[in-house]
Amino acid sequence: MKMQDNLPLILGIESSCDETAAALLTRGADGEPIVLSSVISSQDEEHRPFGGVVPEIAARAHVKKIDHVIDQAVLASGKSFSDIDAVAATSGPGLIGGVISGLLSAKGLSMSLGKPLIAVNHLEGHALSPRLAAPCPFPYLLLLVSGGHTQLLAVRGLGQYERLGSTVDDAAGEAFDKTAKVMALGFPGGPAVERLAAKGDPKAVKLPRPFAKTDHANFSFAGLKTAVARAYEASDKSDIAKANIAASFQSAVCDVLFDRTANAMNLFQKETDEDGPHRFVIAGGVAANRAIRQSLETLCLENGFTLTAPPMKFCTDNAAMIALAGLEHYIKGNFADLDVAARPRWPLDSDAAAANPASGFGKRGPKS
Ligand code: KG4
Ligand code: ZN
Repeated sequence: MKMQDNLPLILGIESSCDETAAALLTRGADGEPIVLSSVISSQDEEHRPFGGVVPEIAARAHVKKIDHVIDQAVLASGKSFSDIDAVAATSGPGLIGGVISGLLSAKGLSMSLGKPLIAVNHLEGHALSPRLAAPCPFPYLLLLVSGGHTQLLAVRGLGQYERLGSTVDDAAGEAFDKTAKVMALGFPGGPAVERLAAKGDPKAVKLPRPFAKTDHANFSFAGLKTAVARAYEASDKSDIAKANIAASFQSAVCDVLFDRTANAMNLFQKETDEDGPHRFVIAGGVAANRAIRQSLETLCLENGFTLTAPPMKFCTDNAAMIALAGLEHYIKGNFADLDVAARPRWPLDSDAAAANPASGFGKRGPKS
């Protein structure tokens, strides 16, 4: 069955890090998005021996899996390729080999189906992702905290994204993964560190809180990562020493996220006309951490924000969010040429990135 023009069927493709994903999405008569299928093939097994995502391995895995993942998504949706009205793919920012792989598949499909191609900024997908599960009216403050990103965005409307802060070096998830790697806890490191932290004393090891007592909303995790490695080297490497390091590290990340989100809440409140309570959304793999969630819940209560945490399947990397951003661009007629380039760096908020090159713009900035 052909979808009506005002209910377009969008195929979304995601391949910017270590998840190969495809999804089909449309919207209901009420305008709310409907996810018809969302298939995610994780590469955890491939990266586990290295304790982190290896870009070359990720690129090869995407090439190997992408066609099958797209086929599965179409099959699971109950639609066929000929029903698709547009193909939306992540075109950046991310690991370039993976982005190219997904974008090339999208270009091939767009050509063969004779349907428009939409180039989606992966971060726009994350910014809109809470709207996949339930209505989440604009504006809202979003903390995106994963293995690839740590940033605070004021999401004021479609296409209106203001980056209030971001990491100047590593993402919080990378710090969790590195902490796990140093103590040989496995990959991905976040859940392992969280489990071990429950057995340790968060005050046992003194670790830095980068940018503490500043009034901006930027993050830095590189120093914390190094401090953890030093603390482990200096310890007796016993089970209790490891648990204490894990607990102290997790507590430092909680404090940093709490402190910088508090600053972002101030900035957001100053720039938002609407009366409270304001909405605060957390997304990304690190948002699964219970200690972090609890501390951000407390922060919300203190600052008059309501906390929204979308289901994990939509707040970690997925293609439904790419299809949703694609749908919005489809409605506006924002289509890409077939020679559109994959972009390793692509700040969502170009003005802020240009004004603050240290956090996310140009060759030396972090991924996003
Ligand atoms: O969003 P995600 O699935 O993928 C991207 O990074 O794009 O996030 C994965 C990250 C990894 O760094 C992983 O260690 C971290 O999220 N993570 C956690 C937890 N579960 C996953 N970090 C802390 N605590 C957790 N429970
Ligand atoms: Zn992501």
